[in-house]
Amino acid sequence: EKMGFKHFMLKEIYEQPRAVAMAIQPHIDTDKHEVNLKNLGFDKPVDEVFKSIERIIFVACGTSFYAGNVAQYLIEQVSGIPVQVDIASEFRYRKPIIPKNTLVITISQSGETADTLAAIRMAKEKGALTLSITNVQRSSIDREAHGHLYMNSGVEVGVASTKAFTSTLALANLLALQIAKARGTLSRAQEQEYVKSLLAIPSQIEVVLAFDKYFSEASKKLQDFKGFLYLGRGVSYPIALEGALKLKELAYMHAEGYAAGEMKHGPLALIDARMAIVVVAPTDELIEKTISNLQEAKARGGKIISIGTDENPSLKSMSEYYLSIPATSWMTSPLLSVVPLQLMAYHLADSLGYDVDQPRNLAKSVTVE
Ligand code: F6R
Repeated sequence: EKMGFKHFMLKEIYEQPRAVAMAIQPHIDTDKHEVNLKNLGFDKPVDEVFKSIERIIFVACGTSFYAGNVAQYLIEQVSGIPVQVDIASEFRYRKPIIPKNTLVITISQSGETADTLAAIRMAKEKGALTLSITNVQRSSIDREAHGHLYMNSGVEVGVASTKAFTSTLALANLLALQIAKARGTLSRAQEQEYVKSLLAIPSQIEVVLAFDKYFSEASKKLQDFKGFLYLGRGVSYPIALEGALKLKELAYMHAEGYAAGEMKHGPLALIDARMAIVVVAPTDELIEKTISNLQEAKARGGKIISIGTDENPSLKSMSEYYLSIPATSWMTSPLLSVVPLQLMAYHLADSLGYDVDQPRNLAKSVTVE
């Protein structure tokens, strides 16, 4: 069932255009370019729910937690509602404060992660309204929630999550837009523009998949680095965290994700000629700041691997490796920028001879804490 691919993970990376299309298709009017997030299972109409909430708390683990971090940027910026993101194992034991009119959203591919399940139960006990985003319908977390959204990615076999992550990012876009519409913070024209960029994502992912060959050739050279520091700002910051997680879990190499602006506050000390700086820097309003962080890293000998948009001359000239993603809106850029990072981790691990689909010490579904 690997359909000719060497691993399930690679097959699942290639399935992302379809997974994203399947995630959004039930909720979009493709003629009018409108979001229609209806029938989520709440006992009130969705817009009424979104109008009445005063706060959102995302709770999840691992890669799903990073998807929640992206969602925070999207929802806060387009709808103006405060969003908090928590690691499930911290949230459940912290005695968290859940004010009234809070919507707690859990994200879980498997729908069976023990800490996330305990967190949603606790949130309900404390009176929160809950919404689950899962890939497995009728899973434990899905059954626990008041409202339900589905990734629709199809079965994910590889332990490292890929297509479920991008599907969730697509749903986060829809949620942000629907919440903003319900609260009157998004114009019709803006909505149409964002929906158009979302609809273009599946074919743009196809373009980015060309980096498969690139990394299969570059992976041997990348093995020589002693560590990888992943940097990003804004929505690209959680993508940096996700890229670092993929590399450590698959290639067993030292990798850390950091907010680019944090470099001076410690990690700059790690930089020398054997450190790779992987920067997620699609063209946006923060790129100049990221570039100046990179100059400091480069001055200390660090080798730069960049994910930029199209041909960005200043980013390209300072980079050892420059990978470009097609232009898209800031909200959808994570769906493209994460793909080269998945391919890089995959090929590094594969070239080192590791079992990509079954990394050591890890399980696909963490049903015990
Ligand atoms: C990393 C990975 C894990 C999962 C985490 C949560 O590639 O797959 O970090 O994201 O164990 O799993 P779910 O989403 O099933 O709750």
